[in-house]
Amino acid sequence: MTSLKINGRLFTLDADPKMPLLWALRDLMGLTGTKYGCGAGLCGACTVHVDGEPMRACLTSIKSLEGKSVTTIEGLADEQLKDSWRRHKVPQCGFCQAGQLMSAAALVSKHPRPSDSQIDEAMAGNICRCGTYTRIRAAIKDYQG
Ligand code: FES
Repeated sequence: MTSLKINGRLFTLDADPKMPLLWALRDLMGLTGTKYGCGAGLCGACTVHVDGEPMRACLTSIKSLEGKSVTTIEGLADEQLKDSWRRHKVPQCGFCQAGQLMSAAALVSKHPRPSDSQIDEAMAGNICRCGTYTRIRAAIKDYQG
């Protein structure tokens, strides 16, 4: 049994402790906002927060998360950031956007007015096949939190 704290709620899972969090979220907990892109740590679509830090759910075993606090897109509380995303109409197909938002939320929680280089560094691991990068940057710059 593995106990996980997800979005403030405690879950006990009867699953292989090596199971990646992404599979547990989507298949066992019904939290499908976190997306499967590459499954290999390359695209950022599966980004969640672990104790406030961005982390790739496809590469993180559930066992390694015991005693830690996980936040997924369903639990993201930063309404100001979501508002900025809406104002700038960031998503196109939308598939990568949960991961984009989670990486951006981790950034603005530390640097509410990030520099271009801080944005580059924080968002470099999140790929968008629609090329929404300009709107992502604008939404982060326009963050009112
Ligand atoms: Fe995890 Fe691509 S699905 S980084």
